[in-house]
Amino acid sequence: MLNSKIADLLNEQVNKEFYSAYLYLDFANYYADAGLDGFANWYQVQAQEERDHAMMMRRYLLDNGDKVVFQAIAGPDKSFADNTAPLKAGLEHERFVTASINEIYAQAFALKDFKTMQFLDWFIKEQGEEEKNADDLIKKMELFGHDAKGLYALNQELAARVYAAPVNGPAM
Ligand code: FEO
Repeated sequence: MLNSKIADLLNEQVNKEFYSAYLYLDFANYYADAGLDGFANWYQVQAQEERDHAMMMRRYLLDNGDKVVFQAIAGPDKSFADNTAPLKAGLEHERFVTASINEIYAQAFALKDFKTMQFLDWFIKEQGEEEKNADDLIKKMELFGHDAKGLYALNQELAARVYAAPVNGPAM
């Protein structure tokens, strides 16, 4: 069994990851409604990755003999002023998730829970990539998204994203 503080934090993180999936599906809904199916696809794939993150943490809790306790998932409540707003909200959200995972890592370090630190290493790296992806999307949108041809091309690019199960990640 894990230290109860770590188990509680990981259970909360499971909820945050499922919420992330819900939030990104909400972004996908926004873009689908706006006729930007490539952007919608990108966030739909992102939602699948978030679900994977939740499943990895669920599996880790189970494998350590800890209870998984599901909490209610909050409804996304953001409204967006323009097509760039979800991208910015996405980066802000990833920074929030990074801080949350860093906090679990810090607690694991304080408790000399080296197993959990090792488990979280994959997520630390993943957060770095997700923040970069979110930031790149904003930059591309600001560079190319303000004229119809540029937006069309960017939408096509994002339509090409395909879900792939994580490689070298923790078991789900
Ligand atoms: Fe699972 Fe985007 O953090």
